[in-house]
Amino acid sequence: MPNILITGGAGFIGSHVVRRFVTQYPDTQIVNLDALTNLFNQYDFTGVIHLAAESHVDRSISDPMAFVVTNVIGTVNLLNAARTAWKGREAGRRFYHVSTDEVYGELHDPNEFFVETTKYDPRSPYSASKASSDHFVRAYHNTYKLPVVISNCSNNYGPNHFPEKLIPLMINNIRHNKPLPVYGKGENVRDWLYVEDHARAIDVIYHQGINGETYNIGGCNEWKNIDLVHLLCNIMDEKLGRDTGTSAQLITYVTDRAGHDLRYAIDPAKLMNNLGWKPSVTFEEGLTKTVEWYLTHQDWLDDVTSGHYQHYYEGMYATR
Ligand code: TYD
Repeated sequence: MPNILITGGAGFIGSHVVRRFVTQYPDTQIVNLDALTNLFNQYDFTGVIHLAAESHVDRSISDPMAFVVTNVIGTVNLLNAARTAWKGREAGRRFYHVSTDEVYGELHDPNEFFVETTKYDPRSPYSASKASSDHFVRAYHNTYKLPVVISNCSNNYGPNHFPEKLIPLMINNIRHNKPLPVYGKGENVRDWLYVEDHARAIDVIYHQGINGETYNIGGCNEWKNIDLVHLLCNIMDEKLGRDTGTSAQLITYVTDRAGHDLRYAIDPAKLMNNLGWKPSVTFEEGLTKTVEWYLTHQDWLDDVTSGHYQHYYEGMYATR
């Protein structure tokens, strides 16, 4: 029986990947691990899908070491566990490392896009930690012949996204009539992909990708932050029965993020042409679904923004 370990399956993207794999592959055993322990003795894993990571750039600026511990050391621990457990029995197994487009740095020329061969140029502690983990994954492929595959994805959005990230933070603040903090001039550009389309891409790459290869995943959907926030304000005004323009009054320009990357944009042609994937949800559909999910899951938002959860979350940082 195929038997896959998914790390970070309680996180935003990971929870959508677990849902997809459990529904699509009822004959595959899925083990979700959300804090790194060695389960390789207990299960003879045929695959690992490694999503577990610290992912928020602003947190990485205030606590870089947490990102080294989780993203670099955590990945190397898992690589070691797979290498040891699979030694001499690698055939038919796969270590899939899920990464980010931020490892490529920032773009200035509007006609330029990140491709799989773009030189790594990480510029934040977060992207430096992910770049480092990507390098280790490739090194294990080259040195120990570990069967690996890597994907680098653009910004995700959708249900279950922690409200420290732009889209859920804005939705939550609009709902509560709180200021909408736009960093700098709001000119930075991100390429947004609906999280379920990312989970579909991970499924395709896990099953059909080639060992040692990298696949870029992106939504071909670039937005300046300020335009995106205006769009969200309009959708929220409509959903909340407010006059158009009401929520936009909450927009507040704040001090820019240190070292703020100007633009990320992925060229996903390799994945589309070689493996036949393409985004299935338009931005309008995806954003509407996302807003509706947050408006009907206030209990989830209250829970993750509660003192109890924050205390737990901050406590994890304080112990490092
Ligand atoms: P974020 O969701 O943190 O993702 P990333 O930094 O990994 O791309 O931020 C997306 C963009 O939104 C980024 O350019 C920073 C900006 N931003 C704001 O302007 N205000 C905010 O409160 C946040 C969280 C982000």
